[in-house]
Amino acid sequence: MSALSEQQINEYHQHGYFFARQLFSAEEIRLLRETATSDHAMDQAASSRDDGTGTSVRLSLWNHPGEGIYGMFSRCHRVVDAVEELLQDEAYHYHSKMILKDAKVGGAWAWHQDYGYWYQNGLLFPDLCSVMIAVDEATEENGCLQILRGSHRMGRVNHILTGDQAGAEVERVEHAEKAFPLVHCKMAAGDAVFFHPNLLHASAANLSDNPRWALICCYNARSNNPYKESHHPAYTKLHKVDDAMVATVGRDDARRASVDFANLESNDRSATSLPDASET
Ligand code: SIN
Ligand code: MN
Repeated sequence: MSALSEQQINEYHQHGYFFARQLFSAEEIRLLRETATSDHAMDQAASSRDDGTGTSVRLSLWNHPGEGIYGMFSRCHRVVDAVEELLQDEAYHYHSKMILKDAKVGGAWAWHQDYGYWYQNGLLFPDLCSVMIAVDEATEENGCLQILRGSHRMGRVNHILTGDQAGAEVERVEHAEKAFPLVHCKMAAGDAVFFHPNLLHASAANLSDNPRWALICCYNARSNNPYKESHHPAYTKLHKVDDAMVATVGRDDARRASVDFANLESNDRSATSLPDASET
């Protein structure tokens, strides 16, 4: 059985993204939020980077999904079967990250393509997919994801540094903004957006009273195995789990927070040509 409707697959190829509303239940998201917000290791691992306007973005990242609730989100059939249908290949976990966009202080993300960064990691093709899952409701006020619909058709554009972040070339973004409709990805907690690695996306700072945390799970196609080493893994078999494991592990206090966070401050950036960039 297909994990996706024909319409979702067409939207992905035509527009570079589609929404999967209520992909996760209120209970699953509650367990994820509760785990993540009380996870001392996640807080400790979070790296903070100047967004170039005075506020900072904070994120925690891990390369291997692990056996905790974060791993269950990124390994469950609901997500991985859909990604494999989009990639038309076996998918493996490239990394996941929690974007900790806190109330009042959460910083902005500059316009970028994920493949604008990942290209540096020895990936020949943009055969990757990101799945952003809303942990909190995302609105214009708290800095929801913004995308330029259809911009993945531009192919990869060059990225340069602004503050600590690498963003797509400003001149090209200005023209892209005229060529493609801007969409604010308003999401309820539990909604997901699947998006193409060449889709231009950004988000504004969170000046509201509400947090906007989001889990982003990123996958690479097995046939797109990187030709050189980087700070993200080469093909590693992804062991899928039943959808019910999300809640089962989420209720298991001893297990739910287990994952190995990457140390973003000491990443070996020699593998990238943007040595100081927020290259996630
Ligand atoms: C990202 O592109 O990795 C983060 C975007 C966001 O959280 O708004
Ligand atoms: Mn991104």
